Amino acid sequence: MPESRGTLQLPPLSLYVHIPWCVRKCPYCDFNSHQAAQDHTDTEYALPQADYVAQLRRDLVSQLPWVQGRKLQSIFFGGGTPSLFSPEAIGQILEMAEELVGFAKGIEITLEANPGTFEQAKFTGYRAVGVNRLSIGVQSFNSTQLYNLGRIHSGDEAAGALEMARRAGFDNINLDLMHGLPEQTEAEALEDLRRAVSLAPEHISWYQLTIEPNTAFYSAPPCTPGSQLIASMQGSGRELLASEGYFRYEVSAYSGRGLESRHNLNYWSFGDYLGIGAGAHGKVTLPRERQVVRSRRTRTPRDYLSISSTKDELLPWELAAPHVDAVELQDLPLEFLMNALRLVDGVSLDTFARYTGLPLERLQRQWPTLEAMELVQPLEQRIAASAFGFNYLDEILQCFLEQP
Ligand SMILES: C[S@@+](CC[C@H](N)C(=O)[O-])C[C@H]1O[C@@H](n2cnc3c(N)ncnc32)[C@H](O)[C@@H]1O
Ligand code: SF4
Repeated sequence: MPESRGTLQLPPLSLYVHIPWCVRKCPYCDFNSHQAAQDHTDTEYALPQADYVAQLRRDLVSQLPWVQGRKLQSIFFGGGTPSLFSPEAIGQILEMAEELVGFAKGIEITLEANPGTFEQAKFTGYRAVGVNRLSIGVQSFNSTQLYNLGRIHSGDEAAGALEMARRAGFDNINLDLMHGLPEQTEAEALEDLRRAVSLAPEHISWYQLTIEPNTAFYSAPPCTPGSQLIASMQGSGRELLASEGYFRYEVSAYSGRGLESRHNLNYWSFGDYLGIGAGAHGKVTLPRERQVVRSRRTRTPRDYLSISSTKDELLPWELAAPHVDAVELQDLPLEFLMNALRLVDGVSLDTFARYTGLPLERLQRQWPTLEAMELVQPLEQRIAASAFGFNYLDEILQCFLEQP
């Protein structure tokens, strides 16, 4: 007999806006980012900003049936390098999101910025049009590392970017740093963290470098630290961050209390998000259809821009065709856990039933074994990995993959 589903509830709604261009492609990066053509008459990059903004509008209009009366609780401009877009273009996108969907009180609006792409006026402009959180891609402050990573800025420029952002009035800033870099020593990794902490950002994302297929590093792998050195680096790095008041609340995210990224928390708590822009992903709950749907927009900027550009109104699947899929009922627990278990404190028990429409018993086939192995916390108050199990998330998820 097919499994029945309880009442699905609508989770909070966020918006992800993908800006798919960068000054130069970094050799480690597998994000949907494309080198922008430089206009040789000056230092500007020739981006089809106006056309892209118009297409984003069509894209958002096409997804309005998925809003279902909600207002946006967060917006994230990701990339690529959104700071290549002018404050005016970012402002137009925000205006249209407010007009078409509406903003919840206290909405968080984040923009990813590359320290090589801005000046003071740009920061002031982003703040003026409503961006209230910046995520600055620093990666490292070490000049040799920055060179090896193909970055277009120095460590001092990265630090200067944060100071400029402060002068522009930003009081919520994230710095992205990576560790496990080519030939990196533990002392160097800790030095990067110390420099970051000295700038007092509200949030630090500290990612381990991964060598991804379809990147220059994959074709010619650099010599990265071995697993023992990485483990030692991570142990000392986390201690350093904690001693400075940066608490780890997700696999790679650290912040003061109350300064977590609300946008990312919504992803990890199985919230909904509309994704607009080339290659953007979305996830939407449709209680009436008793479905959770995932969408993915066409990936290359040229294809994205060319879709039905003569039409004013598109249906949700037209910009994504054929990439709108209902998540199979049997895959929902795994999808839910892939997100929720990334959070150190996991999520509350009722989140599972509310946002998957499945009874909690759906987790009870695997949970007792995992609990006996001390990999997860007892299924009484929260759905969470144990402190020990947090190091073995892939292994925990594997159990739900093998026996859905
Ligand atoms: C989409 S990028 C956007 C940031 C901005 N474009 C920049 O690089 O300045 C988000 C972050 O992902 C991290 N990242 C990208 N590729 C990575 C990889 N292969 N391994 C680990 N972290 C990676 C970097 O820290 C980067 O800042
Ligand atoms: S600037 Fe950021 S998004 Fe662009 S290629 Fe580098 S890491 Fe990727």
